[in-house]
Amino acid sequence: MSLGVRLEGLAVRHGDAHVLERTDLELPAGSFTALLGPSGCGKSTLLNLVAGFARPTEGRVTAGGEPVRGPGPERGVVFQHYALFPWRTARGNVEFALKRLGLPRPERRRRALAALAEVGLADGAGKYPAQLSGGMQQRVALARALAAEPEVLLMDEPFGALDALTRTRMQTLLRELWKRRGTTVLFVTHDIDEALSLAERVVVLGGTPGRILADRAVPAGPPDPELRSLIARHLGSG
Ligand SMILES: Nc1ncnc2c1ncn2[C@@H]1O[C@H](COP(=O)(O)OP(=O)(O)OP(=O)(O)O)[C@@H](O)[C@H]1O
Ligand SMILES: [Mg+2]
Repeated sequence: MSLGVRLEGLAVRHGDAHVLERTDLELPAGSFTALLGPSGCGKSTLLNLVAGFARPTEGRVTAGGEPVRGPGPERGVVFQHYALFPWRTARGNVEFALKRLGLPRPERRRRALAALAEVGLADGAGKYPAQLSGGMQQRVALARALAAEPEVLLMDEPFGALDALTRTRMQTLLRELWKRRGTTVLFVTHDIDEALSLAERVVVLGGTPGRILADRAVPAGPPDPELRSLIARHLGSG
């Protein structure tokens, strides 16, 4: 199951600071979109609007046709910093996130273990964050988002803090999860190669105030050097 997301006529202003202006973006149900752009261009702002953590100054955001009014379990979020509770085990962290769904305890446990198994962490369920590597902690954070069975997965530089090898493994895992679940994914990164290897579509945000500078489909097959340099040019001119 997945939901499409639509952002229409968005503007975000903080006092005199115009972060986004006249931004329209549609994410079809089940699509995988990477959002790139220089630091401070409004990527997290845009993702947070879809997550329901913030409201636009102008315009509207809908998921599955319904206006986004706040966070909801159908929209899962994974941040760069895993934000796990250090006093809860991996399983405890995932179960805790399911509390607000009002699921009975056995169902929370079942889903938590299934999600941890799905990210390859069945053996780590009883461990505390301090006993887990960075990549494992990020997998717990991913399991926490997946356990709620979201239809939209919003990821804000989720692999930015990981070493290169772990990062590649997480990318492979995410691609597999996406293919299996068909969830709509919006993935913020500042890494062009990561964007091109993961996503079906790349959107580049930039300028002041921020707006969409490029919106391209990523062709299947080997990386397209022309697309890569086009994105690099936009990032340089941000
Ligand atoms: N609450 C706020 N008040 C004032 N300005 C804000 C607020 N939140 C964000 N901004 C500004 O909005 C702009 C966009 O911030 P945002 O976090 O969306 O950028 P980003 O593209 O995610 O950058 P990065 O790549 O560094 O994460 C920045 O200039 C930031 O200073
Ligand atoms: Mg950001």
